[in-house]
Amino acid sequence: MSTADMKIITVIGSGLIGRSWSMVFVSGGYTVKIYDNQPGQAAKAITEIRKQLEELEGAGMLRGELTATQQLALLSSYDDMAKALEGAFFVQECVFEQLEVKQSVFQDIERLVGKDVTLSSSTSCLVPSSVFSKVQNRSRCLVSHPVNPPYYVKLVELVPHPETAATVMDDTHALMTKVGQAPVCLKKEIDGFALNRVQAAIIAESWRLVQDGIISVKDIDLVMSEGLGMRYAFIGPMETMHLNAPEGLQDYMKRYGEGITRVLNSFGPVPDFSGEGAKSIFNEMRELIPSDQQHLSARIQRRDQLLMSLAKLKKEH
Ligand SMILES: NC(=O)c1ccc[n+]([C@@H]2O[C@H](COP(=O)([O-])OP(=O)(O)OC[C@H]3O[C@@H](n4cnc5c(N)ncnc54)[C@H](O)[C@@H]3O)[C@@H](O)[C@H]2O)c1
Ligand SMILES: *[C@@H]1O[C@H](CO)[C@@H](O)[C@H](O)[C@H]1NC(C)=O
Repeated sequence: MSTADMKIITVIGSGLIGRSWSMVFVSGGYTVKIYDNQPGQAAKAITEIRKQLEELEGAGMLRGELTATQQLALLSSYDDMAKALEGAFFVQECVFEQLEVKQSVFQDIERLVGKDVTLSSSTSCLVPSSVFSKVQNRSRCLVSHPVNPPYYVKLVELVPHPETAATVMDDTHALMTKVGQAPVCLKKEIDGFALNRVQAAIIAESWRLVQDGIISVKDIDLVMSEGLGMRYAFIGPMETMHLNAPEGLQDYMKRYGEGITRVLNSFGPVPDFSGEGAKSIFNEMRELIPSDQQHLSARIQRRDQLLMSLAKLKKEH
């Protein structure tokens, strides 16, 4: 397929993530066809996107070179999968996180598209070898795992199936870069990919420290938000170490490697996330932020506003 033809992207599933991907792709000037198997759902998604794009434009936070009106003109909705897939060079699947649903959706998609079309899944927890097990040609399949909300948090983990062609990884990396995301490539699949494995490690130790009576829920969150997180928005753990010793990473490990090893060896087993011990952590959290819709929505709104400002700051530097 020539690059002149590579204009149309089909988004399958129009929930939270399908809508976000659609906004990201139209911001990059692509035509986006949205399909959902719930009749009327894809059309509803566009109504919702219109509202968001207008708000973003008003706030000066719209991504890309086009106006909100121009971006909206690139969107269309379908209740018919075959029509939605017509002309697409790239398909981003965003349906429920259920293996059988994804497997059968990809089986359907493969029957309807040409042989050069890339099939990409948004799955957060399923490995490509499971998701694509019913696809015939797996060399064109990969996972493109976004972070919520993708409009402000730009990381996309590209995870290959064992059979994925290198060109498919490269082309998807280029596409994601072009639409303003920050893609990273995993060299092979692994449960949890990279982001969720690192996140699980942070969750485990945070949980343990609270459960063992070392620190409060409130204070462990401050350790991240006022401590580690300040740097991590701009430099990762590797560069952090590299900058924290006079002669860089190797020097850092000479000085601190033993200490880190000692601490790591004191880590306990996987903590209990649901038993008696967990109950007091749930309660402590609810005292800080009650679990009702009103309190949670207010905090979500605050989070997204702060992420928007941070995204702005990162763009300027
Ligand atoms: N929400 C997140 O934070 C997040 C982050 C990263 C990745 N993901 C992944 O993105 C995917 C979608 O998540 P979401 O939060 O948008 O879910 P969601 O429940 O908001 O949306 C799913 C949508 O898919 C539609 N759908 C279901 N089965 C379908 C089918 N067979 N054909 C077409 N449409 C179908 C539903 O009608 C619904 O509109 C999941 O795989 C999830 O793991 C989610
Ligand atoms: C499989 O997919 C690759 C990558 O899109 C494509 O180049 C190749 O022609 C496909 N093979 C078949 C047999 O369809």
